[in-house]
Amino acid sequence: MEEEQRLRLSTVYAAGSLPDAEAWEALRRKTTAAHAQLEEGTGTGAVMRGWLRFPAAYLESDEFARVQSAAAQIRKADALLVIGIGGSYLGARAVIEAVLGRHYNETRKVFPAVYFAGNSISAKECAELEALLEGREFYINVISKSGKTLEAALAYRHFRAVLERKYADQPGEAKRHIYATTDAAKGALRAQCAGADWDARRFVVPDDMGGRYSVLSAVGLLPIACAGVDIAALLRGAAAAQAAYAEPGEDNACNSYAALRYHFYTHGRKSVELFATYEPSMTLFGEWFKQLFGESEGKENKGLFPASVTFTTDLHSLGQYIQEGERFLFETVVTFREPANTLAVQRCAEDGDELNYLAGRKWHDINRAAFRATALAHQKGGCPSLHIALARQDAEALGWLIYFFEKACAISGYMLGVNPFDQPGVESYKNFMFALLGKAGSEETRAALAAAYGNDIFKED
Ligand code: PA5
Repeated sequence: MEEEQRLRLSTVYAAGSLPDAEAWEALRRKTTAAHAQLEEGTGTGAVMRGWLRFPAAYLESDEFARVQSAAAQIRKADALLVIGIGGSYLGARAVIEAVLGRHYNETRKVFPAVYFAGNSISAKECAELEALLEGREFYINVISKSGKTLEAALAYRHFRAVLERKYADQPGEAKRHIYATTDAAKGALRAQCAGADWDARRFVVPDDMGGRYSVLSAVGLLPIACAGVDIAALLRGAAAAQAAYAEPGEDNACNSYAALRYHFYTHGRKSVELFATYEPSMTLFGEWFKQLFGESEGKENKGLFPASVTFTTDLHSLGQYIQEGERFLFETVVTFREPANTLAVQRCAEDGDELNYLAGRKWHDINRAAFRATALAHQKGGCPSLHIALARQDAEALGWLIYFFEKACAISGYMLGVNPFDQPGVESYKNFMFALLGKAGSEETRAALAAAYGNDIFKED
């Protein structure tokens, strides 16, 4: 990747909140130690570092070629339904929207529409998706490492039945329209797609990669390729970042970002990191960011709370709070230097809206002025911004950005003293949910709930 294409981290809009020279020295030492833990595999959860050296190697792998050929088959259809939740869908959806736009399904010309199911238990949403698929040829890509995640399993059961009804008079056809991405050897979904006839339609969630670090594996790459995004470019961008951030030198922006957010958390009394974008098509990327950092850092009563905003939209809703509310926020703003197009403001003879002073100016430049003005105002108001700039909003840059955040997140977890690769807390609500639903094996939790709340807890509110 050429020098001007690389990610740049700027602290211009954080002036006044930055560490002094002595604090920087201490931060550097801490970040370098966390970087070494990650690279050498001496930190907790080290077995889950498969993503660290994955992008460059995967480009050359047989599975990468298989993903490309599966995508070529799926692209012949009208639609792809991706079934999965959390790390099993957010990355793919984020990249598709970031590269192709939020309205991809309406604006696409040759590639299939891509819909996402199994990321909620909403009956309304499920029915809406089924109606959208009515009368169209569609494939399913069900993605679940365990195969037991309730949301994904419910949706898979439902849409598999839709396919079976559709192809009732063509034996084997429903199954031929399903691709599964799951554990290599175990789990409920793996068991459902055992057998040689699944071999070409089964992909692996790598054992050494948690869901939130898996977007650059088959988990994300198959749906992304189906939408027509250049997945080789995505991996090339990530591989370039892998090479750029391998050493912990002072020019390592990934380490500097981890150091600065740690500084804000420990010395700046900041407890919320706002991922901010000025591109609506990056809103889903903010969702991916929140899962990555939230599940990796939020444990043992520690961690920055990751939130996200899309500007300038949210300046008209949350802007007031960010400017003058409680001072526990800092922003991580991602921008793209090159305009996506040449859209410019037209001159208007009557100038009733008084916009002629902008005539001839590109929307992109006006958006950048909005970013700079907002960052200045927020900095003045006590909400500093770290600015991450990339050349353009394309697959290569997205690959770089994904790897940048993944590595910074793992380093941040080690700096905080937590395991950045587990998520023990997500089981709590599931235990109660299964107890309320009467799942076999939840008897002990049911008894504990009855003792604490009485049997009314099992009735509808
Ligand atoms: O990051 C994670 O590990 C989670 O978000 C999982 O991806 C999510 O819970 C889905 O799990 P599974 O793939 O087993 O269905």
